[in-house]
Amino acid sequence: MADMQFDLVVIGSGPGGYVAAIRAAQLGLKTACVEMRDTLGGTCLNIGCIPSKALLTASEKYEEAKHGLGGFGVKVTGVELDLPAMMAHKTRVVQSNVEGVQFLFKKNKVARFHGRGVIDAPGVVKVVKPDGAAETLTTKNILIATGSDVMPLPGVTIDEKRIVSSTGALDLDKVPGRLVVIGGGVIGLELGSVWQRLGAQVTVVEFLDRILPGMDAEVSKHAQRILGKQGLSFKLGTKVTGARMNAESVTLTLEPAKGGGETTLEADIVLVAIGRRPYTEGLGLETVGVALDSRGRIVTDHHFRTNVPGIWAIGDVIAGPMLAHKAEEEGVVAAEVMAGQSGHINYDAIPGVVYTWPEIAAVGRTEEQLKEAGIAYKVGKFPFTANGRARAMQVTEGFVKVLADARTDTLLGAHIIGANAGDMIEELALALEFGASSEDVARTSHAHPTLTEAIKEACLAVDGRPIHI
Ligand code: FAD
Ligand code: NAI
Repeated sequence: MADMQFDLVVIGSGPGGYVAAIRAAQLGLKTACVEMRDTLGGTCLNIGCIPSKALLTASEKYEEAKHGLGGFGVKVTGVELDLPAMMAHKTRVVQSNVEGVQFLFKKNKVARFHGRGVIDAPGVVKVVKPDGAAETLTTKNILIATGSDVMPLPGVTIDEKRIVSSTGALDLDKVPGRLVVIGGGVIGLELGSVWQRLGAQVTVVEFLDRILPGMDAEVSKHAQRILGKQGLSFKLGTKVTGARMNAESVTLTLEPAKGGGETTLEADIVLVAIGRRPYTEGLGLETVGVALDSRGRIVTDHHFRTNVPGIWAIGDVIAGPMLAHKAEEEGVVAAEVMAGQSGHINYDAIPGVVYTWPEIAAVGRTEEQLKEAGIAYKVGKFPFTANGRARAMQVTEGFVKVLADARTDTLLGAHIIGANAGDMIEELALALEFGASSEDVARTSHAHPTLTEAIKEACLAVDGRPIHI
């Protein structure tokens, strides 16, 4: 069966897997991709990045129509929510994206196999189809890109109806009266914001004493203040110890994280968002002896080779931030190395964005990380209240903060909380990637009037010479 022999079989078609497959095909490798879902695109396109951003944008428009246009002299009355239509928008966006991947596979001649991929031996992948039938692919290389799954919380069993993961929270058929979100991380704040805007009373229960623990502390504190003003409430330093289902509601039992007396909290819907874990179930890793670390992640070298020759892994299933663009970069490098080229990823220049309103974006290191590493740094900050375009757009919340090496002025980190922060951070990601100094960015012409002038001003502020404040 000549057509079942490949140079590369990718298992999983998320942003890591599908991008690796396309890049490998571009480089002339005969490539197949095995996906067990009905549609391509993985977590990100089907139940992650894309549907969540569709609902974030839609709910933002609702909120704006309801409360946000009066200040511009635009009177809007009779604003109503049509939740089924909003969900239909989300479904259409997902569909066009997953079909886009299918088109790209055809265009690049990537063979698609529908079923669960099981590694029988190095170079041998069995595809177990939805009807139970199996076919065997032989290949020079196997790339594991099976992604991640929801981290369960003992005592709070997800039924995707009243106790939901992000997947259920993207598909509620009515706005809950009371939504309790367990976990003040990215999913909790994004999806909490969606339902808060649509009318839910949202309480975020977070184990640590701050939200967004990976972010720069000053930024996450500011974010909490803004989100609090919007109506989200926070119970920090609190753990959920159990959930009881009532006829119409869920009663959660809470305890202070440091120990202490128990309290209860009533919810109509509970969203469990305490992180994700690598997904390697049923993949046959034990058979071939692929090594995992203590957190169940596949161990690779910096070119994404596992300990078993011919088997590679990328994306959420290996170490590093669980981000779509990180998985994509790894997919490209893995494919290029397989094809005999060289590749490299600078993990210090991978941006992260939380798509709340305002957006929160970061690249490089936080103040806390620099302090811990004993690196002397300078800080430059500039608030959007002093930016002309931000005033015109009525988006003066937030600031740009850059961190530069005290001795060399090289940019080490950048943090933005503000409108369009997710798009603006890219300038600073590029600056970090090119090893730029704050002076380089400060001397670069930024179009006026744009929000990006706040970046230039923050870089000028590193040496105490901002113009507009
Ligand atoms: P995945 O996208 O998880 O894809 C893995 C695929 O492998 C899945 O389709 C799965 O069905 C398939 N698979 C698994 N095992 C097998 C098998 N044995 N055989 C066949 N197929 C298999 N990241 C961002 O960067 N930006 C965002 O805005 C963002 N928003 C998110 C919102 C939510 C609600 C969630 C849950 C995640 C979000 N993420 C976001 C994270 C992002 O989705 C992941 O980092 C990204 O999808 C990881 O890509 P991946 O290719 O490693 O794996
Ligand atoms: P997360 O790691 O961002 O946040 C989890 C939060 O839950 C943390 O603040 C943690 O301290 C807290 N927590 C852990 N155990 C807890 C407990 N028992 N009780 C209360 N709080 C607890 O994980 P999240 O939000 O589930 O997202 C998963 C992954 O998906 C993240 O790694 C993220 O990178 C990715 N993602 C990315 C998005 C983006 O880039 N915009 C959007 C959504 C998800």
